[in-house]
Amino acid sequence: MYIYGTAIQKAADEGAPERVLSMGLGLGYVEILATAIAAKAGRPVAGESFEIVPELRHYFEAWLARRDDVPRDFATTYDSILTRTAEAIRVDAHDVRDSLAKAVASGAWQIRAEMTPETTFSAPFGCICFDAFSSKTTPDLWTEDFLNQFLQKTASPQCVLSTYACTGTLKRALKSQGFDVKIREGFSSKRDSTFASRISF
Ligand SMILES: C[S@@+](CC[C@H](N)C(=O)[O-])C[C@H]1O[C@@H](n2cnc3c(N)ncnc32)[C@H](O)[C@@H]1O
Repeated sequence: MYIYGTAIQKAADEGAPERVLSMGLGLGYVEILATAIAAKAGRPVAGESFEIVPELRHYFEAWLARRDDVPRDFATTYDSILTRTAEAIRVDAHDVRDSLAKAVASGAWQIRAEMTPETTFSAPFGCICFDAFSSKTTPDLWTEDFLNQFLQKTASPQCVLSTYACTGTLKRALKSQGFDVKIREGFSSKRDSTFASRISF
């Protein structure tokens, strides 16, 4: 809510394109949150998620489609994330799940596999939730070169990017792509986090 909810809400409030990029899917917190915020505003959700671990993609899609091939621990966790998010945003949990399921089934929200420097995108995004572990565990995703190219390919002229991370390479890449960069208080063990926007270009 603090790192990604504020970014999704600001992008919507500022009239940035509705498409949200989630890097990476993990347990789907960002996807569920983006859908809840869109549902509250009475609009459909759209975006793309990336996830390198096949099981995380398959279980989430199976849970959304209400199939029974989801391990119990995962189903319980997805249910809990959905309930808590819907409560916080004050929307109906069933509506959120149905809306995201519909978006995934129709391709309005795509769940894609590994993101690499070669990944291409069909359209830019108004909000980027960059939740890609850290420069220690996934160093390729945090180099200044990768981040510059990534932002050139993904960020629409009106765009908000938020991440719990706060590295020098990230701040330099954001500034060189025309973002205003704010350092916010961090979350859990992190001292600082990054909130950047390129709203009026
Ligand atoms: C911090 S977790 C994301 C948590 C997630 N936002 C959630 O709601 O649970 C980072 C995720 O990025 C995935 N990941 C790491 N490198 C990746 C890559 N190159 N492409 C796609 N996914 C990647 C990991 O498998 C992991 O699930």
